Amino acid sequence: MAYVIETELTSAKKQKPAADRLGFGNYFTDHMFMMDYEGKLGWHRPRIVPYQPISLDPAAKVFHYGQTVFEGLKAYRTADGRVLLFRPQKNFRRLNQSNGRLSIPAIDEEFALQALKQLISIDRDWIPSEEGTSLYIRPFVIATQPSLGASSSTHYQFIIILSPVGPYYAEGIHPVKIHVESEYVRAVKGGIGMAKTAGNYAAGLKAQDDAAQHGFAQVLWLDGVHRKYVEEVGSMNVFFKVDGKVLTPALNGSLLDGVVRDSILQLLRSWNIPAEERLISIDELYEAHRSGTLEEAFGTGTAAVISPIGELNWRGERLVINGGTTGELSAKLYETLTGIQRGELEDQLGWMVEVE
Ligand code: COI
Repeated sequence: MAYVIETELTSAKKQKPAADRLGFGNYFTDHMFMMDYEGKLGWHRPRIVPYQPISLDPAAKVFHYGQTVFEGLKAYRTADGRVLLFRPQKNFRRLNQSNGRLSIPAIDEEFALQALKQLISIDRDWIPSEEGTSLYIRPFVIATQPSLGASSSTHYQFIIILSPVGPYYAEGIHPVKIHVESEYVRAVKGGIGMAKTAGNYAAGLKAQDDAAQHGFAQVLWLDGVHRKYVEEVGSMNVFFKVDGKVLTPALNGSLLDGVVRDSILQLLRSWNIPAEERLISIDELYEAHRSGTLEEAFGTGTAAVISPIGELNWRGERLVINGGTTGELSAKLYETLTGIQRGELEDQLGWMVEVE
């Protein structure tokens, strides 16, 4: 379908924050993309408008029943001034997978990418270039029909906002401490765990707040049935290097199919480092630590990139990994991935998409 994007430019450009004050997700660019959905018209009226609050009826279904999905991806400014997106098609495909699970009508993925490129080229001055910074992109869909009936909405909005960011964790690339959650669960197979939707994050907040009080950056979720198999960390997929082999939980329907997760697996395979996607029990990791074969652990995610895990805490038993320092493989993966993303290393796997 051929869409025409109406564009209204702001007459009041905002001041850009200094790179060392960015943090994560605190500042937003001058413009945003929006598009509406309603039954007869389908997705329609794509527009780029000045960044602004949106007005919703208090009965909009998103507030009551959480019918909403989101994505997270990044754009980078290269040393020679180009703007590169990291695997954006994969994010829009996943947005539609989440839409499907939340009973939200699919968007046109190719058009969404075209709209995103147009939005970024308008706000390209906002993309920071300092080490560790990027432009974080948050596409999301919300159910806007004003009705308290607990059924799928008839109306939606698809919105993309942009935020210049620094590191997700205060620790940066330094190892984080993670609490292995044994009281609460995040998701079960057949639920919404594989979808990128608000409810999964809301389900994790209590555990995350409790863990933060004890000095942990995030929680590591175990499966919701056996409370035994490792699934994912609050905002990241998770990897362990055990006896030379890299392990990550298999995609089983209750965890997120991370874009960085997939990229790490591809890099490892291209380096001939054995990598397995399978069930990993928490006992197996503690046993590997006791026998001295748990070499490294790290989380992966768009926001966090690669975040080494220096310590796990499970039922009060603390397990320090690699002396609490960043492992060699974690560092190499971080350097390689960010090098490709910033256009400093050759993009052999064809991941980067340029914004003209
Ligand atoms: C991302 O890595 O893009 C995420 O969606 C994590 C988010 C909860 C900050």
